[in-house]
Amino acid sequence: MAKSKGKSQEADKKAAALMAVREVKGGMKLGLGTGSTVKYFIEELGRKKFPGLVVPSSKASEDLAKKSGLKVTTLDEVAKMGFKKAGDMGGGLIDLYVDGADEVDRTYNLIKGGGGALTREKVVASASTEFVCIVDESKAVAKLGKFPLPVEVLPFAKAFVTSELEELGGKVVERKKFTTDNGNIILDVTGLDFSDPLQLETELNNIAGVVENGIFAVRQPERVIISKKGKAQYM
Ligand code: A5P
Repeated sequence: MAKSKGKSQEADKKAAALMAVREVKGGMKLGLGTGSTVKYFIEELGRKKFPGLVVPSSKASEDLAKKSGLKVTTLDEVAKMGFKKAGDMGGGLIDLYVDGADEVDRTYNLIKGGGGALTREKVVASASTEFVCIVDESKAVAKLGKFPLPVEVLPFAKAFVTSELEELGGKVVERKKFTTDNGNIILDVTGLDFSDPLQLETELNNIAGVVENGIFAVRQPERVIISKKGKAQYM
């Protein structure tokens, strides 16, 4: 039973990723997210011999992009080539950012960071003119917050940030044996009040020692592709 659900979920992830590939044009600069859904997107770009530059949001995606034959670069290198016109939510450097999510609500607020790559993901998403989020139906929620919110924290600030998060009603669990690509720890937090995700995202980032949190409300995706029973569509 669990196995066949796993199989159909993989088919859904792939269907969403392949639909996002249709948005890609030859000369674009692409931002690559991280995780098991965007993996299909990266592999398909490789199969199609995508000729443009890509900026990965993690070491894992960088490795996969290189293995897939893509032309990997960094945001700093792209910046030397000049900024383009920004979109409403972000941009100027990357044309299109594609990434998965752990939760998405009806107004496109996200929780991300299940893989621990949230900070670089938010940087690349914010540097992108357009952001397309790709998910299977299990990620759609009426309200964010069931998935423990990943918060990237300086190791030095662990005790202080933990107590601040607890003050806000959070139950805090440090992710075991995990260091981010930036050398920090992740605290996974449940029990926070998600009635205003934008406000919560800002409030958490104002705690000294928090590097970034996994709420994407300031920089939401422009479009969400969701798939069910192997069929992808725009949400
Ligand atoms: C990585 O840190 C995350 O933000 C992922 O983008 C998110 O967890 C979705 O991952 P999956 O596509 O593996 O579910």
